[in-house]
Order: sequence, then C-alpha cells, then structure tokens
Amino acid sequence: MDGNGRWAQRQGMPRSYGHEAGAKALLRAIDAIDETDIEYVTFYAFSTDNNNRNNDEVGSILGIITYFLSEYVKPIISERNYRVRFIGEMRMLPEPLLDVINDINNLALNNKGKMLVFAIGYGGDYEVANAVNVIIKQKNMLLDDKPVTPEELKKALYTVNIPDPDAVLRYGGYKRLSNFMPLQTAYSELFFTDKLWPDFDKEDILKVIEEFAKIKRNFGGNNDNV
Ligand code: IPE
Ligand code: MG
Repeated sequence: MDGNGRWAQRQGMPRSYGHEAGAKALLRAIDAIDETDIEYVTFYAFSTDNNNRNNDEVGSILGIITYFLSEYVKPIISERNYRVRFIGEMRMLPEPLLDVINDINNLALNNKGKMLVFAIGYGGDYEVANAVNVIIKQKNMLLDDKPVTPEELKKALYTVNIPDPDAVLRYGGYKRLSNFMPLQTAYSELFFTDKLWPDFDKEDILKVIEEFAKIKRNFGGNNDNV
C-alpha cells in the first residue's frame, strides 16, 4: 500500500495526512474485498524497514493504524465473521497497538468467514529468520538431526495454514516487493499500478481479478498438463 506520503505532499499537506487517507483507503478495500470471492487478503501496512523512518513519522503511522483498527476494524470483526491474522515482529510494536491486536484476535477466534491478514511490523527476512529459529528449537528438543525440508520451513512461517498469495498488487509506481512474503510469493502473479494507495478504488481489484483469470498458471510444470 505505497504512496501515502506522495499523495499528501502533492496537495501540500503533511505526510501524516496521507497516512490517514491511506487508512481510509484500507477500509474501502476491505469493503471491496467483501463484494468479491477473494477468501484471503493481506494488507502490508507497515514493514520492519519502515521503522527506519524518523520517529515522528513512525509514531504517526502506528498511531493511525492503532486508531483505525480499534475504531473501524474491531467493530466489524464479529458482524462480518472475519477470520484475522496479524503477521510481523509483534515485539517491535507499541503497547496500545498490541492491545487492539489482542482484542481483535480474541473477537475473531471462532469466526469462519474471509480472512484478513495484517502485516504490521512485518519483514520477510525476519519471518524466515524466526521460522529457522523455531525449527532449530524444535529439532534440538526432539534430538532430530535430519535436514530441514521446504515443507517444515513453510509451516514455521507466520502464514502457516494461509494459502500463498495468488496475486500481489502494489501501488505507488515501483516494481518491487519490498520484503513482502519472499517465500510465499514465489508463484504469485504480480500486478503494479502507478496509482497512489489513498486513491484506491474497487475497480483496481476487479481489474486484477479479470487479468488474473486470463493467466495460465503452471507452477513450474509445463503448460500442457495444467
Ligand atoms: C506507504 O506510503 C505507507 C507506509 C509505508 C506505511 P509511503 O509513506 O511509503 O508513501 P510514499 O512512497 O513516501 O509516497
Ligand atoms: Mg513509499
């Protein structure tokens, strides 16, 4: 969800104004997803690398995320039966945000509907490192010296039991994934738009769904038998 800062600056407004607009766009995106048959959606809201921005901006982004989660996302969790997963380095997040995350997780515990995944304080390199550490601990405990398998590695990621993304859509004009799910996106179809995230429109998703439907996917096999 890139481009909040530029969106605000183009209007002569502070970057935080753009992050607020970005949060509103996120709510529109959740509504839009509801009208599609997409079952899993991930919003990459804040990366471990975003932490390198100046303290004011980091504080304002995390404050806005906390506010929007508690005021707008929390109330619709039960109403819309959403399943929820937060992925990222939770220990890096401030207490008030962790409290809301905890509340939302509890509310969603027995839900059965679409899954909203929020990547907050997320970095793919951290996720893989964490997975490796979890596996080492387990293997040590079980005195297991067999080599780690790709399946074991994927099961130790924060996205366990969430299917790999079929498609990724990045806003803001750059053609890169910026540490987003490096293992899980191995076969994802990648879409890029020059639009800035606060300009999100439901049509953006419908266009991706339409394009996606035309793509013949073979996951490394040959094209004939898939
Ligand atoms: C993306 O907007 C939102 C977050 C990183 C939280 P940016 O802040 O990256 O906006 P630009 O890319 O500077 O315009
Ligand atoms: Mg950016």
